[in-house]
Amino acid sequence: MVSAPTLTQPESLLSPLAKASARWVLVLFGASGDLTKRKLVPALFNLAKAKLLPDNFAVLGVAFDQLSVEQFREQVTSFLPAADHGSEVFDSFRRRLYYQQADFSNPEMYSGLQKRLGELDQEYLTGGNYLFYLATAPKFFGHIVQQLGQSQLSCQENGRWRRVVIEKPFGHDLESARALNRQIKAVLAENQIYRIDHYLGKETVQNILVFRFDNAIFEPIWNRRYIDHIQITNAETVGVEQRGGYFDTAGTLRDMVPNHVMQLLSLTAMESPVSFQADAVRDEQAKVLHAVQILDSEKVLHDSVRGQYGEGMVRSERVPAYRSEPGVSAESRTETFVALKLNIDNWRWVGVPFYLRTGKRLAQRHTEITIQFKRAPFELFRNFPVKKHSNQLVMQIQPVEGISLSFGAKIPGPILRVGSVDMSFEYSKYFGEEAYTGYEVLLYDCMIGDATLFQRADMVEAGWSIVDPMLDVWAALPPRKFPNYSAGTWGPKESDDLLQRDGRAWRVIE
Ligand code: BG6
Repeated sequence: MVSAPTLTQPESLLSPLAKASARWVLVLFGASGDLTKRKLVPALFNLAKAKLLPDNFAVLGVAFDQLSVEQFREQVTSFLPAADHGSEVFDSFRRRLYYQQADFSNPEMYSGLQKRLGELDQEYLTGGNYLFYLATAPKFFGHIVQQLGQSQLSCQENGRWRRVVIEKPFGHDLESARALNRQIKAVLAENQIYRIDHYLGKETVQNILVFRFDNAIFEPIWNRRYIDHIQITNAETVGVEQRGGYFDTAGTLRDMVPNHVMQLLSLTAMESPVSFQADAVRDEQAKVLHAVQILDSEKVLHDSVRGQYGEGMVRSERVPAYRSEPGVSAESRTETFVALKLNIDNWRWVGVPFYLRTGKRLAQRHTEITIQFKRAPFELFRNFPVKKHSNQLVMQIQPVEGISLSFGAKIPGPILRVGSVDMSFEYSKYFGEEAYTGYEVLLYDCMIGDATLFQRADMVEAGWSIVDPMLDVWAALPPRKFPNYSAGTWGPKESDDLLQRDGRAWRVIE
């Protein structure tokens, strides 16, 4: 991960490692979808602009739609910034985009694909290195990998590499995730598999590791002796947009918790890895996920909250209830909000609850991790009118990216009064605004073969093990009071109660 140079560097800075592996064809399954247009092609273009793509590179889009190569190029490059159109880098990038119409479920199409890739190899001297990116509906993941195996397209020999990126959702529960892992591991070695979680492409998420392990002052207090509890909030203002059909069968628990929220939790709670090698980092993430206490049915009822939004006002705009969204059943019992309390069974964290909440149509788009420290052990100012106060460290993931530490300071004046003040760092103020998609580093890492920012099979399964008991209890006891929060609020009252009964409260996000 750290080997990726920053995208602002002016010259071609492919590291020696990158140069060695940097001749490749990216095969994009599902190339006519939104992800390709909105994220993947813009990210590749940003890499091209930063001179982080080699000359020996081409993209082959594969999808059901009948499109000519010209139409495909038009479709995907129309999402690139207008100011770049016509530039040298734009023209050269555009020329490298190809398209093949195909039915993924048809085994014969894979021999056609092989032939087309052979031609691109010849033209771009890519040495037979292929990255297959599965940006398709999840039902195709297993089948495509199987066919890649049967057609030998996944076969690495004579120094060439073959890698496969698998988008989320990776399974819809523990059993299906295990089955998918078995299916793809029958064809691919673990080091050929890149299970993506786009949260790991976010600078601020990667920065959790740098913050914790490249600074000497925080780690000694990063434990049960000094920390009272930890909160992770992942709030969205959007509803289900055009994805009502998918979302109504998934729900927020499946959609966000085993993947994105667990990434935030594991990076916050893991032990220091022995090196920055992919497996060293992932070993520690997997270890802490395995240490999360699995909730039994009683605990699920007590320590988890689900919600669904009704109509309401989000940023001064009236929005419909979840049940009125396109593609959603009018009696839907699918949750659009989850809050839960988890405990981690290890020496560092025993007794320190982790409160997590995530939801759609909340009051603000805001993702953060709050480390709430304990109060000072001795109340020196107890005889003065001083408000009780404790330190908070907030790692802001999005949309504001930064870190702030609050502490008590004497308010100037003859009477002793203490106020809470902030010391804060904002990415944009130090490093400027960057219009990145978050996929740049992930695609770059696939190219150089660094899987640090990708999920290993055991991590995915550990994430599902944590949510599986909740899925079971919730399925057995359908919610009776949905919708239970208005769009534009911070979720159902029970979410506040979850902390209140422990004498705590969610940090107020303004
Ligand atoms: C996706 C979920 O994985 O993450 C979406 O499927 C969610 O439902 C999205 O909206 C959130 O991503 P971000 O980067 O906007 O926080």
